[in-house]
Amino acid sequence: MTNSSIIAYFDNISVSPEWCFKNVRSTEQWTHGYHRYPAKFLPNLVKKIIEDYTQENDVVADFFAGCGTTLVEAKVHGRKSIGVDINPVAELITKAKISPIEPSKIELEFETMLAKLEMFDADGHASREMHERIDYWFFPEHKNKIAFLYENILTVTDVTVKEFFLVSLSHILKNCSKWLQSSTKPQIDPHKNPTDPFSAFKTHTRMMINRNREFFNQLSKDSYLATDCEIRLEDARKTSIKSNSVGAIITSPPYVTSYEYADIHQLTAYWYEYITDLSGFRKNFIGTFYSLNQELNSDSELAQNIIDDLLKKDKRTAKEVANYFKDMKIVAKEMRRVLKKNGHVCLVVGNTTFFGVKIKSAEVFVEILESLGFKMVEIIKRSIPYKLIPTIRDKKSGRFSKLENKDSNLVYPEEYILIAKK
Ligand SMILES: C[S@@+](CC[C@H](N)C(=O)[O-])C[C@H]1O[C@@H](n2cnc3c(N)ncnc32)[C@H](O)[C@@H]1O
Repeated sequence: MTNSSIIAYFDNISVSPEWCFKNVRSTEQWTHGYHRYPAKFLPNLVKKIIEDYTQENDVVADFFAGCGTTLVEAKVHGRKSIGVDINPVAELITKAKISPIEPSKIELEFETMLAKLEMFDADGHASREMHERIDYWFFPEHKNKIAFLYENILTVTDVTVKEFFLVSLSHILKNCSKWLQSSTKPQIDPHKNPTDPFSAFKTHTRMMINRNREFFNQLSKDSYLATDCEIRLEDARKTSIKSNSVGAIITSPPYVTSYEYADIHQLTAYWYEYITDLSGFRKNFIGTFYSLNQELNSDSELAQNIIDDLLKKDKRTAKEVANYFKDMKIVAKEMRRVLKKNGHVCLVVGNTTFFGVKIKSAEVFVEILESLGFKMVEIIKRSIPYKLIPTIRDKKSGRFSKLENKDSNLVYPEEYILIAKK
């Protein structure tokens, strides 16, 4: 397609109701509800793509695996899968979600853990050295309980069980901290009364045990327990996935300068000692506000038009957007390398508006994919289900804001599924 026909196509495309899953409210089936994760996939969407675009023997890959929705769905469909993500918290969550544990085993391990929690001495102090940011986010009484829990989890010898408990603890950290509960931004709520770590851990782990049981039983019934499923802590721009080995890539790239995953996952990252400072953690994420690159040019004409319009409003944002499209072109090349001939790439992408400039990411991605030799198969427009993604962006700062006000803009009310073939 020429660039003007890409724009015209998107201007006229209408919403496909069969991709909206309007009546689907629960996203908690199987292990999907183990951990909150910003902008996670609707499992039904991935399920439909797997059913429509993959064969039984295909390997499915997700280059921005996040909390592993694609991998979990691939496993329940008996497809081998590989996920990649730069975020160690995403790696941990995904590992637990793709690793069914024999139900009676995890129940026993949980009983043992509960017995250990009985030994907690409120006057005792945590034995570990902790990062100063932990003191910033937690009250001492909660910090001591979390430290006790964490130390006991580390003594669990079975790695899969240990990771299962670590994910449970990671999920409850926000509730047990001073972090404003309704916000994805690191912000203290001066009025918050954090949840007790032990009761939160018990409740959440019980829920996970139930989900694990359903997942395990289903996989066992279908003989998919041993289906290969792997998450790698890698950069999507340069993965270790073998060339010409993947049947379909199903992925949703980070949105440009919207979620700062490094900031959002800092509680877990500090507790589990994945990081010592945030700046190092932030810099390898694609689409981050903290990107160091000074790019202002793009070899995509559609991207360049957006960058030029943004330059008139805000130079820093223009650079961020330019970096984003540059990085995404590198990722698209990498996707082409790993795909088999006739393999499909399925990208779920949202457009947005910054400072009044429309960031037509979907249109730019079509231009990039075609420039690399992909053939577009289908472009689907869908409306985003209620509450799965924020829809308000502050007009001045460009960041997501919770409540609509006079300075806010609606963002991502719709998204696109771009399906292209190698
Ligand atoms: C929109 S989320 C994906 C959510 C995922 N579909 C799910 O269901 O959980 C985008 C992901 O891209 C990851 N990411 C950002 N930069 C990356 C990079 N350079 N390489 C690999 N992953 C990256 C983020 O950590 C985040 O998990």
